[in-house]
Order: sequence, then structure tokens, then C-alpha cells
Amino acid sequence: IKPPASILFIFGGSGDLNQRKLAPALFNLFIDNWMPEKFAVIGLGRTEYSNDKFRNHLFDGIQEFSRRKGESNDKWAGFSEHVSYLQMDASDPEAYHKMSDVVKQYEEEWGVHANVIFYLAVAPQLVPDIATKLGALKWCKDSQTVRIVVEKPFGHDLKSARELNSLLNSIFTEDQIYRIDHYLGKETVQNILALRFANALFEPIWNRNYIDHIQITAAETVGVEDRGGYYEQSGALRDMVQNHILQLLCMIAMEAPVNFDANEIRNKKTDVLNAIRPISRDQVHEYAVRGQYSHGWMKGTKVQAYRQEKSVNPKSNTETFAAAKFFIDNWRWQGVPIYVRTGKFMHQKSTIISIEFKQAPHYAFPQEAADSFRPNRLTISIQPEMDIRLRFQAKRPGQSMTLNPVDMIFSYKDAYDGHEPEAYETLLLDVMEGNPTQFMRADQVEAGWKVVMPIIEAWEARPPVDFPNYAPDSWGPEDAEALIARDGHNWVSLPIK
Ligand code: BG6
Repeated sequence: IKPPASILFIFGGSGDLNQRKLAPALFNLFIDNWMPEKFAVIGLGRTEYSNDKFRNHLFDGIQEFSRRKGESNDKWAGFSEHVSYLQMDASDPEAYHKMSDVVKQYEEEWGVHANVIFYLAVAPQLVPDIATKLGALKWCKDSQTVRIVVEKPFGHDLKSARELNSLLNSIFTEDQIYRIDHYLGKETVQNILALRFANALFEPIWNRNYIDHIQITAAETVGVEDRGGYYEQSGALRDMVQNHILQLLCMIAMEAPVNFDANEIRNKKTDVLNAIRPISRDQVHEYAVRGQYSHGWMKGTKVQAYRQEKSVNPKSNTETFAAAKFFIDNWRWQGVPIYVRTGKFMHQKSTIISIEFKQAPHYAFPQEAADSFRPNRLTISIQPEMDIRLRFQAKRPGQSMTLNPVDMIFSYKDAYDGHEPEAYETLLLDVMEGNPTQFMRADQVEAGWKVVMPIIEAWEARPPVDFPNYAPDSWGPEDAEALIARDGHNWVSLPIK
């Protein structure tokens, strides 16, 4: 079923996010027949654009950034009729009345009451002001059909996230607020729930009795690109761990939901965050590692050090790599370490979750066979590979009892036609449908901040002495290896061995 009539206002309409992600996602939804029968996409911004020039700007973005570029260009004309541009200065309260007029006009034309969605694709410092001015429009308050979408970063720390939540909650009700974490829209991430809770096989062993440890890696082969200004204030912990990685952790560690109600799922995830053992500041050096890339070579291309990147302080202490070890203090996970790491300019682009099971309790096999034993391991590759593999022991054909580990693999590419929607498509459709399940509730965001705050505070209090401390095209600083090696484990990297 298609969502109801919707009017989408995109603040920052002429910006990067709209051109790279939002417009391509909306166009793909249109191609796949998911857009409402009646819809309008209105870009807002200070830049001067005619409607046609704005449409061309978005089309250029689709040609450059959409995974499905060129696939259905014949549909563009039909889509672009729904797209327009409204030049406005978002700091001018009067300008907001123009939006009221637009809404009235469409509703009259369509003869229906439409969803109104405000997508704030703007710098985080502009969010409070825009939200306040939207709040002054009487029709926005307490309306089931008016929604506001807020991008990350959601706050800079726990305090600012709380302030932002309390401001937004004073203007809108919680169910009008959609805080995006685009990892939650990824197919392979959503599939974690199916894997865990639609199969009887895994859940009985999904606990401290059978699982030895868990690893989450989110490695990127890009540097900070042209986002030095933003990244300098952020760093890997705030940019990736507080949100994306902790959300992956929640999906892996949450208790079984009773149903698919948005709050039921979000309650179960929040329980995980609240159960993560706080790291005391004086223990941070044992539990967390930071790194920053030096200059060097990335797959044959010379790249500069982070400190030389545009808009970055040449003495910057911002981390471009972070690793940490967490424990979850509840019955299911007591004593199971969870290692996470993320970094820029890593050796491979890969987001993988690896569940390492305990050794079998007894090996009746000859010693030579037992030497090649590897514990079972379930690896969920989120991207760019999209597969799930289960490692187990098998007998090598031949006259001797030789065992070796083999993989049972479910690959999206082989199982389906490779047409998975992009995260933003899924999430934009959810907003139009009014389904907040895959969005962050206020308490979830705050709980995420609580987890990382001790690390942030300890790092700020003790500037690093060894930055830059890893070369591009590596797996980060050596301390990250030590973090996991101390417990007798190795990081799992692609190709998975
Ligand atoms: C964003 C971060 O949220 O996620 C970026 O701000 C990062 O720094 C990006 O590159 C990674 O997203 P993806 O979908 O490419 O893994």
C-alpha cells in the first residue's frame, strides 16, 4: 500500500545530502511505485534557483550518486513534476508562512489532508532555530500528520543532546520527531531481526553460555574527504560509535520483542544501552583506543595526513579511528566482551559483525585433527559484501580423520536479484507511512551518549601523545590489536578466514 498524500519540505534543499541521498532515494521510490499518488517535494534554501534549475541540479546528483543511475531516466519527467524550489531564509520567521500557503494550496488542489514532513538536511547548529520557528506555525503542534526529520549528529555530547531533545519535545510530540540513523535503514541491518527472531535455531545459543565474544567492525577506505570542518569537531567515536555501531550492538544483543510495535522494539534496544557497563574514566586506557591517520598510500594513491586535511587543525587531536571493549550487564550477556572498531583509511571497506562461539566441550578426535579446530563463528557482513556465514568443522575427504573449518553461506547476491533498496529509501518511506520503528527515540540517543561519554571525557582530559599513529591502508594503531589480543582474540577482517 502506498503512503498517504505527502508534502516534503527539505531544508538545505540545495545542499549535498539532498543531492547525494534524499533526491536519489525519492526518485527510486517513485520508480518502484512506492511514492504516494499525491506528493510534492519542495527544496528550501537561500540559493537562488528556478524550479527547472533545481530539478536539473537534483537530476545531476542522481546521475552521479544513485546506484541505479540511468536505469529509469524516462521516469524522471514524471517525477520532476512533483519537485519545486522555494527560496527562503530559514532565519526569517515571516518566510515560514510561505510554507503554510504551499500546504494550503496543495491540499485544496488534491482535496485531501496531507502529511507534512520537514526534513532538516542542515548543519546541526541550525536545527534549534528552524524547529522553534516551525513550532510557531500553529498547525504543526500536536498534529499526527506533521513530522520533523532530524539528521545526525544529534548533539555533541550528552548535555547538548538532552538540551536538543528537550527543545524538540517542547515543540513537537515525540511521535512527530524522526531522528535518523541511516544504518537502521540498511537491508542487512534490518535482517538481523529476521535472523534472530524468525528462526528457532539461533536464539537458544544466543547467550553467555555459548558465545565467547562479539566483534563489530565498521571500516572505511575513505578519509574525511571534504568534511574536515565537521569531522574536526566530531571524531570517530561521536561520528560512528555513539550512533551506528551502538545501534548494531543493540540489534545483536536485544531481547526478543513481543511484537513489531515501534516502541516495543525501541524499548528492547534501549534496555541494551542502559545495561552497558559504564567505563570509569581511569579505566578508559584499558577499554578504548584512539588513532589518527598519517600521510601515506591508499591503494596506490598518495594521501595526506588527517592533520593536513582541509579545515583541520595542523595539531589536531581528533581521532579518525576508535576501538572499544564493552560489557553488557544482564543475564544474557554477563562476561561476554563486545569489541568494536571503526576508522577512516582502513585497509578494507567492511562493516561486519562477528559472533564467536565457545569451543566444543570435548574433542574425541585424534590430536592432529583437533589442532585444526576453530570454534563456530557466525559472521554477518553488512556491507559492501552482504552475506551471513556460519563456520563449522567438516571432515576433509580422505583416509585420515582430518578436519577443517568450512563456511555455510547465505549471500544476498545469489539469493535475490541484487535490488535492495538504499537505507534512505526505506527510511523516507517509513516517515511518509508514519512508522518510527527504525528511528531513534529521545531516550535512545541519550543512552548512546551515556555509553561513550566517559571515553570522550577521558580522551579530552589527556591529549594523545602519539598522533598520528596509523598509516593509511592499515587496520589502525597497534594498540587496537593489543586491545583484543590481551584477551586472546584477533579482529576478524575480510576476506574472512
Ligand atoms: C556517516 C558518517 O554517518 O556515516 C560518515 O558521518 C561515514 O563519516 C558514514 O562515512 C558511513 O556510512 P556508510 O553507509 O557509508 O557506511
